[in-house]
Amino acid sequence: MHNGLEQWVREVAELTQPDSIYWCDGSQSEYDRICNEMVERGDLTRLNPDLYPNSFLARSDPNDVARVEHLTFICTEKREDAGFTNNWMAPAQARAKVRPLFDGAMKGRTMFVVPYIMGPAGSAISEVGVEITDSPYVVANMRIMTRMGKIALDQLGADGTFVKGMHSTGDLSPERRFILHFPSDREIWSVGSGYGGNALLGKKCFALRIASNMARDEGWLAEHMLILGLESPDGEVTYMAAAFPSACGKTNLAMLLPPESQKGWKVWTIGDDIAWMKFGEDGRLYAVNPEAGFFGVAPGTSTKTNPNAIASLHKNSIFTNVALTDQGGVWWEGMGPAPAHAIDWRGKDWSPTDATNAAHPNSRFTAPASQCPGISSLWESPQGVPISAFLFGGRRAKTAPLVFQSFDWNHGVYVGAAVASETTAAAQGQEVGVIRRDPFAMLPFCGYNMGDYFAHWLAVGARSDKLPKIFHVNWFRQNEQGNFLWPGFGDNLRVLRWILERCRGGGEAVETPIGHVPAQGALDLRGIEAQVPASAMEELLRVDREDWRAEIQSQREFFARFGDRLPKEISQQTEATAKRLGL
Ligand code: OXD
Ligand code: MN
Repeated sequence: MHNGLEQWVREVAELTQPDSIYWCDGSQSEYDRICNEMVERGDLTRLNPDLYPNSFLARSDPNDVARVEHLTFICTEKREDAGFTNNWMAPAQARAKVRPLFDGAMKGRTMFVVPYIMGPAGSAISEVGVEITDSPYVVANMRIMTRMGKIALDQLGADGTFVKGMHSTGDLSPERRFILHFPSDREIWSVGSGYGGNALLGKKCFALRIASNMARDEGWLAEHMLILGLESPDGEVTYMAAAFPSACGKTNLAMLLPPESQKGWKVWTIGDDIAWMKFGEDGRLYAVNPEAGFFGVAPGTSTKTNPNAIASLHKNSIFTNVALTDQGGVWWEGMGPAPAHAIDWRGKDWSPTDATNAAHPNSRFTAPASQCPGISSLWESPQGVPISAFLFGGRRAKTAPLVFQSFDWNHGVYVGAAVASETTAAAQGQEVGVIRRDPFAMLPFCGYNMGDYFAHWLAVGARSDKLPKIFHVNWFRQNEQGNFLWPGFGDNLRVLRWILERCRGGGEAVETPIGHVPAQGALDLRGIEAQVPASAMEELLRVDREDWRAEIQSQREFFARFGDRLPKEISQQTEATAKRLGL
């Protein structure tokens, strides 16, 4: 047994005073027992086993339904090391303020010790974490989302290093809710929330906020990116990683099913949310998905938009804040025809004439990645998969074209730094639908000063001549009437194909002031000619000088806030773009 781990568990128990301590082994029987106990207490509802075998519905406290960015802190000695994009507290002050909330917090409760691996077992890219929690819901979700239990203790051994995560649901009051990160101690404290990104500490807290610090210190990348393999008709698979802000379609792109007209093409899923990447000996970047499951946004997921997600969640899954049908199944907005009656996410009777949503807009499914019909045979490969292209993107009604390629690595880093998107329901306490700058889709997840993060990306670029090519995509461009110009979903394959061709040295392109866009006819539009006429295509790829004038101004204002922590390269790239635009 690992001495440091045992001692830390003792310390946490002394502080939180649980009735009992339980070390999770990660077995199926343990999972079944924990879920059954929650069903008996009324904390979980077992779904109809004929429809959703071994699956459950959870309803969270209505005040606890999303990540809480305003209560999430990076605790570094110096405020500048967290940077203005993060909330900051000094470590000693943070510990003094929040420790009392853990004091006796587990009285009358079981304290679960949850060892887990982020990444495939035995991979040099993987890392071990241990979460101590008083939430059986967290334990059940962690078993789907990570490699959890004995397997992690075996990997840790007697003297391995691990990231500590201390979690208590506390009294679930937003006034006593804090998500604290201590990067130099590789430690996380989370109290007052049982919701996904706040409470499943392996995900955003470790795999992004703490891991981004580890990655900077050790020369690798921890990113808010899906990973997919695009198989061409000749059987070759090319791997791509894409960063889009929360609830902007990472899961859909990772599980894309090509349309009828695209015979011979296939997308393989490796991950839908997070990528950890290290350089291989050949100078290429190799990526693993640190997670073992999908914590996907339910609303909008259907057999039309994402058949593979629907197929993934039909058994062994947990649903949070969706609606319960009279047949004991689940339903959410955008899944298909509404049932005549359901129990909504608050536990109340609901019918389609009600003004409220049946499912919360940020309701989620937790499903094992292994159940995805399109899961890549390499998804658990310890070596990871070599990445050929990075895609950045957001939800932009105007300005950003459907796709463009950066001129080179440094320009691509600037393109990533300049990502902006309309906000979604994935975070609590912000207006939905307003543009916010979200560099690399990492705004809520970069665990240190983002100016230094840009510098880290620039430094990564200096280390190899076999780097992925960098692209920007926007599936969400609208016409004057507010209608989407691009069909999206499976048809995004057409854009991936152009990206692949560019990576292979082909793909016709036209140079614009912001990068290379597909030349006329370079995208295969067979089968959607009527939906996307030439005029729409022109609009989709148009770089509008007036829109870009406002965009560059917004970028300048945002980048100026980094002060002297902004790498010069970023402002030079901004000004070079302005100059090319004739601004
Ligand atoms: C997520 C998020 O849960 O980004 O993946 O909010
Ligand atoms: Mn995410």
